[in-house]
Amino acid sequence: MTLSTTRQATAPEILDRCRELVRPALAESVRRLHPWHAETAAFSLGWSGVDGSPVPGSQGKGVRQALAVLGAEAAGGSGLDGVTGAVAVELVHTFSLIHDDIMDGDETRRRRPTVWKAYGTGPAVLAGDALFALAVSTLAEVPGPSGPAAVRRLSEALGDLVHGQAQDLLFESRPWTGPEAVLPHEYRAMAAQKTGSLLGCSAALGAVLAGAPAATADALDRAGRHLGVAFQAVDDLLGIWGDPQLTGKPVHSDLRRLKKTLPVLAALSSRHPAARQLEAVLTGAGPLDEAGLRRTAGLVEDRKSG
Ligand code: IPE
Ligand code: MG
Ligand code: MG
Repeated sequence: MTLSTTRQATAPEILDRCRELVRPALAESVRRLHPWHAETAAFSLGWSGVDGSPVPGSQGKGVRQALAVLGAEAAGGSGLDGVTGAVAVELVHTFSLIHDDIMDGDETRRRRPTVWKAYGTGPAVLAGDALFALAVSTLAEVPGPSGPAAVRRLSEALGDLVHGQAQDLLFESRPWTGPEAVLPHEYRAMAAQKTGSLLGCSAALGAVLAGAPAATADALDRAGRHLGVAFQAVDDLLGIWGDPQLTGKPVHSDLRRLKKTLPVLAALSSRHPAARQLEAVLTGAGPLDEAGLRRTAGLVEDRKSG
């Protein structure tokens, strides 16, 4: 008997493989946009700089497109079956980040200026809208019964994503303490919608386009929603403690804006004495300076021992 020496592909290898598979169709799709939007989209996708020249290493990981390809393979199809779904979710993801950076007032992403910072808010809003519309028509053009099923799933995910994003913004004006305070379970429901809906939809679309039954796509959708909560929790951790050189995002930006993120909500709900100090800092008057931000991050971390 010979032992198989085939090794499992690593996550970066899987992501690379899926990006390569999807890239030609995604590029073709972006070419259908108005040239102004196509330029903005290429910048946002990390394919080019503000001056149109290529910038190495500024692309996203491509998790959503990979999930669509892997969803098709998991459902017994080929990765190619999932490519149209991968294109649609990548367009939606790009749109959601462009608009999110405007809402969050963030000036950098992936070590580069955000789209609104580079091109202006009006062009950024419009480019996002164009990507949204393109994503829907990409799926609407799929022949056969899977086309309408795919459009339905994407529309539902978009509705949930917008709902989750609304919750996220509304949390900002809720108090840190008292009966109106945001609880960790509310945060998880928000994250499942804001981030999980598109991850779940990505995997489900792959399965739908590979001809899988609805129950298979539903199961992949649920798994993706759980993944979204984990993904968002990691994003929140990186937002407080991540190295800006690696994350490409400004450090402490969520704390500076007093955003209700999971590490802060979890720390506040603990019985550790640092939780009460944290509460005092967060509810104190005035914005936090650099030293205040470092101290707040330290207090959130202190609750680990509680
Ligand atoms: C972005 O959420 C989610 C959507 C675009 C729907 P966040 O604001 O938490 O993510 P980052 O940190 O800017 O990527
Ligand atoms: Mg943001
Ligand atoms: Mg946001």
